[in-house]
Amino acid sequence: MRLFLVHSFLLLCLSVVQADVTVYGPYKQQTLGIAGTATAASASYTGSAAYNPTTLTPPPVPNPPPPSQFNIQLQNGGVPGLSIPQKGSFLGFSVEFSVVTQILGRNSSFLQVPFLNLMANIRERAGSINIRVGGNTQDSATLVSSIADGADLEKDYSGSTNPTATPPTIFTSDIMKMMLGISNLVNVRWYMGLPFYNTSNFRLEIAEAGESILGDNLIGLQVGNEPDLYSRHGHRPANYGPSDYVTEFGQLVTAMQNDANVPNQGLLIGPNLAGVWSPEDIWNTGFVQQYNQELSALAVERYPSDNCYATFGIGTPRTGQEMFPSYLTHQSGIDIVSSYLNSTNYAQSVGKPFLMFETNTASCGGFPGLSDSFGAALWGLDYSLQMAYSNFSGALMHVSGQDVYYNPFTPPPTNQSTFHQWTIGPIYYSALVMAEVLGSSNASQVVDLQANGNNEFTPGYAIYEHGQPMRVALFNYVSDPTGASDYTASISISGGMVPAQVNVKYLAASSVAQKYNFTWAGQTFGDVFSSDGRPVGQLDVQTVTCDQSNNVCSIHVPAPGFALVFLNGQASSESDSGATMTFPTTAYTKTENTVTIDQAVLATSNGERGMSDMLGGTSKGRVNSAFGLSQALPSIGAIIAGALIVGRLSSLIR
Ligand SMILES: *[C@@H]1O[C@H](CO)[C@@H](O)[C@H](O)[C@H]1NC(C)=O
Ligand SMILES: *[C@@H]1O[C@H](CO)[C@@H](O)[C@H](O)[C@H]1NC(C)=O
Ligand SMILES: *[C@@H]1O[C@H](CO)[C@@H](O)[C@H](O)[C@H]1NC(C)=O
Ligand SMILES: *[C@@H]1O[C@H](CO)[C@@H](O)[C@H](O)[C@H]1NC(C)=O
Ligand SMILES: *[C@@H]1O[C@H](CO)[C@@H](O)[C@H](O)[C@H]1NC(C)=O
Ligand SMILES: *[C@@H]1O[C@H](CO)[C@@H](O)[C@H](O)[C@H]1NC(C)=O
Ligand SMILES: *[C@@H]1O[C@H](CO)[C@@H](O)[C@H](O)[C@H]1NC(C)=O
Repeated sequence: MRLFLVHSFLLLCLSVVQADVTVYGPYKQQTLGIAGTATAASASYTGSAAYNPTTLTPPPVPNPPPPSQFNIQLQNGGVPGLSIPQKGSFLGFSVEFSVVTQILGRNSSFLQVPFLNLMANIRERAGSINIRVGGNTQDSATLVSSIADGADLEKDYSGSTNPTATPPTIFTSDIMKMMLGISNLVNVRWYMGLPFYNTSNFRLEIAEAGESILGDNLIGLQVGNEPDLYSRHGHRPANYGPSDYVTEFGQLVTAMQNDANVPNQGLLIGPNLAGVWSPEDIWNTGFVQQYNQELSALAVERYPSDNCYATFGIGTPRTGQEMFPSYLTHQSGIDIVSSYLNSTNYAQSVGKPFLMFETNTASCGGFPGLSDSFGAALWGLDYSLQMAYSNFSGALMHVSGQDVYYNPFTPPPTNQSTFHQWTIGPIYYSALVMAEVLGSSNASQVVDLQANGNNEFTPGYAIYEHGQPMRVALFNYVSDPTGASDYTASISISGGMVPAQVNVKYLAASSVAQKYNFTWAGQTFGDVFSSDGRPVGQLDVQTVTCDQSNNVCSIHVPAPGFALVFLNGQASSESDSGATMTFPTTAYTKTENTVTIDQAVLATSNGERGMSDMLGGTSKGRVNSAFGLSQALPSIGAIIAGALIVGRLSSLIR
């Protein structure tokens, strides 16, 4: 089963500003009804998708239920099937280019403080964060020297001549200065994309400005976003195929070689397929051998399903309620990854990292109640660990505007920024926990334990470093308030001895359907509209005493829940440096209202075009008070409005 044909005519009507519309997946063939299960309140909800209140019903306890007690045998040395060594920055984010000024900051002197805090949390655990700014909107983006009203980025709907109606985006190099400012504060490394729609006019200014401004913080340049969808979207003739992409890639390489202002020629990333062509179609052309020097990584993009029917009236009707069980299983990540196993193996053989460049729960915005549920946090973490185990070298969870359900984090609409803060979604928790699971050693090797007789509801992974077991990650996808579906995993270590005690952190919620207020080690990012990017609440790390006479540590995992077991002190310290730099957000200012289009027009407009961009203004968190501490940021110190307060970790801010 390969592709899911969407009539290209329909696509002409759409503005695809988030994930691509065309997706297929393991759930594609399921026959799904149309009836929704939204509550009355959600059915009448007319606000932005990002705050949709739909709450689903958790699936019933499986029959037969997973065994509630099982053993996990770890071993010192000689463990077969370990992944390649992974970095703590494995799971990063992909920010749709058109929303960067909502998410990252308005300009280089106006960074979004909640965003900085969210990244600081991950930096504390992983050391760095990888973020791609790109997507469809990057493919037609043009760097200009200035924009009339002084903005960093602008989209022009009225003048759009683009056949997919993706708004042509213009931006200034101040965007890169803003990105550099973020790198200097919270160690973000960036991927960008080169416009690839017009091969007789490669606009290499992005590479020129990107390399000169971002320096080593620019780690990759994507060549073509989902080129296997180009012909369908009207950017190439119908017979456009893998060898044509490879030829055009070569034209770009030649253009770059002729551009003295692109000193680093080895940052390119391809083929970034959506899944219409198989990666092997590209490998078999000799692509990697031909452009070995220019390629920094190989990449694909993939969503396991789509909600295009609800968003655009095309494709297969699906509801979140019907789809929910298919995400609450270990099989989901395995299915997504399965068609890339040959490619991750191939990538190793040619010495290139293999990346999942854009993914999330479902394209066309995700599913209300599902993409924003606790179940999605468990799914995102299990899927990410499955990719790490399967020798991907990184994955990026997509972030779009107010019109999607799956955002890891969403700033409030501009006109609500004086009284609302950010909304933190489940996928952010996945990323935060993933950073701790892998830690900062760069030596973490992941193995799928096929735990509990490979029961799909209770997966587990072990993380080894230099042959020694360091951490164990345990999932329970079942929701059962009676407690009968909680389980106990009995961990032992052959060729060694369990420690006298271990530390355990839990990712917790009352059910997989819960929205917001999830806790990680007791701390939360709270309810909708309530976060400044710092976790709140008392840090709660459990200590479990092990039975050394029997070489067993018994770990309790609630239904639902996730437990991360730290097998020694080093395992804990690598996962949390304990030195958080956070950015207090005392000054939210409403300096302007970017909402310029009538709500009634939005309500009836075809899909997301208006919503994503026009409603997407953000809160104006300022980096406040007087700048000038020892953590001075040479390149941006002068342009940050106000100053930073750099704090050490406290039990509340962690
Ligand atoms: C940056 O954005 C803020 C808020 O929109 C604005 O007040 C400021 O003038 C902008 N700075 C520059 C240099 O454009
Ligand atoms: C591609 O770029 C060339 C050269 O600038 C230009 O003449 C042509 O109109 C462009 N094609 C499209 C489809 O924009
Ligand atoms: C795996 O990839 C290689 C390289 O493209 C290809 O030659 C081989 O046929 C692929 N194997 C499978 C089973 O797809
Ligand atoms: C990952 O790569 C390692 C090292 O090459 C290999 O031993 C292992 O089998 C691979 N895992 C998978 C799932 O392909
Ligand atoms: C991990 O790798 C990064 C580069 O990607 C490096 O900056 C960092 O120092 C490494 N950490 C360790 C512990 O080796
Ligand atoms: C989240 O927690 C806050 C504070 O305890 C509470 O007021 C709110 O109702 C909770 N929201 C949800 C969706 O559970
Ligand atoms: C924000 O703007 C939208 C669109 O114009 C409007 O519907 C909404 O009522 C406004 N909200 C507030 C709190 O002003």
